[in-house]
Amino acid sequence: MGLEEAKKLEEHYLMHTFARKDVMLVEGSGMEVKDDTGKTYLDFIGGIGADSLGHCHPAVSSAIAAQAESLIHVGNYYYIENRGETAKLISDLMNQCVPRFFRAPWKTFFCNSGAEANECAIKLARLYGKKVGLTGNTIITLDRSFHGRTLATLAATAQPAKQEAFQPLPDGFVHVPINDLGALQRAFLENPGSVCAVMVEPIQGEAGVYPCDEEYIFEAVKLARRNSALFICDEVQTGVYRCGENPFCFQNLGITPDIVTLAKGIASGFPMGACVVREELSDTFGPGDHGSTFGGSNLAMAAAYTTLLTLSKGHYGESVQEMGDYFTEKLATLPEITEVRGMGLMIGADLEESLHAPSVVDAGLEAGFLLNATGPSTLRFLPPLICTEKEINKLIAALPGIFEQSRILKEQADAAAAQKAEEEAKQLEETQERIAQDYDEETAKEFSKALLDSMNKSNE
Ligand SMILES: Cc1ncc(COP(=O)(O)O)c(C=O)c1O
Repeated sequence: MGLEEAKKLEEHYLMHTFARKDVMLVEGSGMEVKDDTGKTYLDFIGGIGADSLGHCHPAVSSAIAAQAESLIHVGNYYYIENRGETAKLISDLMNQCVPRFFRAPWKTFFCNSGAEANECAIKLARLYGKKVGLTGNTIITLDRSFHGRTLATLAATAQPAKQEAFQPLPDGFVHVPINDLGALQRAFLENPGSVCAVMVEPIQGEAGVYPCDEEYIFEAVKLARRNSALFICDEVQTGVYRCGENPFCFQNLGITPDIVTLAKGIASGFPMGACVVREELSDTFGPGDHGSTFGGSNLAMAAAYTTLLTLSKGHYGESVQEMGDYFTEKLATLPEITEVRGMGLMIGADLEESLHAPSVVDAGLEAGFLLNATGPSTLRFLPPLICTEKEINKLIAALPGIFEQSRILKEQADAAAAQKAEEEAKQLEETQERIAQDYDEETAKEFSKALLDSMNKSNE
């Protein structure tokens, strides 16, 4: 099946939750993916930060294939291979670079996605709050954060535009600006004795790669502890060597959270999430308080164990750090880029005003690069952690041409949008005239309003 047929089927039978690019990807190896026509692309978004070992890493592919041949799923009533091993490995990795005082077994709940890992963290924090006698269950999160699309994680996600249509959302979330310790202090004062957790992304990914300042996050952890609140690091995007040097970003920042949530890169593209807590919290949930049919299932465990083992034994932290520095330096030399932010291989780059990031993504696709924009003027790079200077050099060399082509694409897109708007306005005028002729004034008004609403909706 080719692109056109796949597109037709998806448009007809799938909910329209993603604006997909006109390309059908069918194969991948390392940093490269191939479309159905055989064209290859260098992947600088890596399944939105999930393909940590690149596409079809032989160790991960063969672990999944072998597991698929022996046992795919039995459910959480039974012990299985790789689950305990994976949890132990996660605990060992968590204990790297944390003060001796905190070094104890970390305990994990396995699930299937980042949102689920955060749901687990939210539930656990609220139960903890009840158990220690807090008067409420407020969770403080940061403006422009992103914690997922389920109702509770959407309530935690401080982006009104994303929340509005789905009100009422679960209660009990308070949002404060990033890197503003005073605002965090005020939030505690305004909710005395009722804050059970502070939840932050060490680097806000979906917002455009905005890091928490080291001093801010350090003080925020202290403030949470002083107020008997838990500190949750949402490391769904930043975790598993994404930020270089250490396995998790919190370790680069010199803090020790109480709860760490993981997903994306943890199983190199296999769907999987994890909520990891310090030992003291591990008895907060009792049997029946939380669960998942597929969480921690055989295939995910095989993929995660192999991914984590390969990453931890392969000195990836150092190479991610080195490549991240190199990439950042090279991006900063381009005159069209006004700012570069991030850590390791999680990088955001702001573009000069005359460029439009989504058009740069389209031009990149034409030139054979998978890129990503988090907004009208920001590109985000989350390449697989196996990325080398060779691939970075290829992209850097291609970017000036991609920027030029993006201007042409933007002009074409603007012209097409203007023409569409003109045609729609004409069509609307004709329809309104017909309605006015056929119906009385009141009914005609109602029909016209309904027509306008539906046109506006289909243009969103
Ligand atoms: C920081 C963060 N938390 C949570 C999520 C939600 O993860 P998922 O899409 O796997 O539910 C994301 C996804 O982008 C994320 O970046």
